[in-house]
Amino acid sequence: MHTLNDDALNLLFREARSYSAWLNRPVDEDILRHLYDLAKWGPTSANSSPARFVFIRSQKAKERLRPALSPGNVEKTMTAPVTVIIAYDLKFYDKLPKLFPHSPAMRDVFAKNPQLVEATAKRNSSLQGAYLMLAARGLGLDCGPMSGFDNAKVDEEFFAAGKCEDCEQEFFPEAHVKSNFLCNLGYGDRSKLYPRSPRLEFTEACTLL
Ligand SMILES: Cc1cc2nc3c(=O)[nH]c(=O)nc-3n(C[C@H](O)[C@H](O)[C@H](O)COP(=O)(O)O)c2cc1C
Repeated sequence: MHTLNDDALNLLFREARSYSAWLNRPVDEDILRHLYDLAKWGPTSANSSPARFVFIRSQKAKERLRPALSPGNVEKTMTAPVTVIIAYDLKFYDKLPKLFPHSPAMRDVFAKNPQLVEATAKRNSSLQGAYLMLAARGLGLDCGPMSGFDNAKVDEEFFAAGKCEDCEQEFFPEAHVKSNFLCNLGYGDRSKLYPRSPRLEFTEACTLL
């Protein structure tokens, strides 16, 4: 059986922090592609893979995000090399014939049940955001996740029907993509970290039955 050694576990968990300050070191497009190509293997229900990731890199695109950010999240986001919008596609079921080919009926199970679609999209895009953060850490990047922003403003700016200023294609021709959370990516400045807060002990958080 293969297991990760302590160095790898430290990198992913024990020494990984949530960063607010960044070193002046860029993040290449290649590493973002590598990141996605790892994170995509994490499990989702019916392999539905509802998360959509918008990697905001240019200052112009950052400015589109600024008005949606909580005041405490502006500086850390504007200075981060990359900010990812972790979003979910409420029409994820249209890709099930490709993603879950052995069960063709699955598409319609979702298509007929908007509540199931919403719960599945939110649950699994949150998981996929976590896979993305662990993949980032595994590749030596640092993360700064954030829910302190106005989701409706982000959705209007980035996912409104027929609106995509930065790409030639219309990625989101209908307003069926919604933001879940944001995550800054880069190389964190350890000197700006505050002491780490404790976590719950096993006995506080877990039950063995
Ligand atoms: C979903 C999510 C939302 C968060 N939202 C914010 C936020 O809006 N602003 C912020 O400064 N930190 C935010 N955080 C960071 C948490 O406060 C941080 O991960 C937690 O305190 C643990 O810190 P550590 O990883 O350094 O131990 C968020 C974290 C997560 C996972």
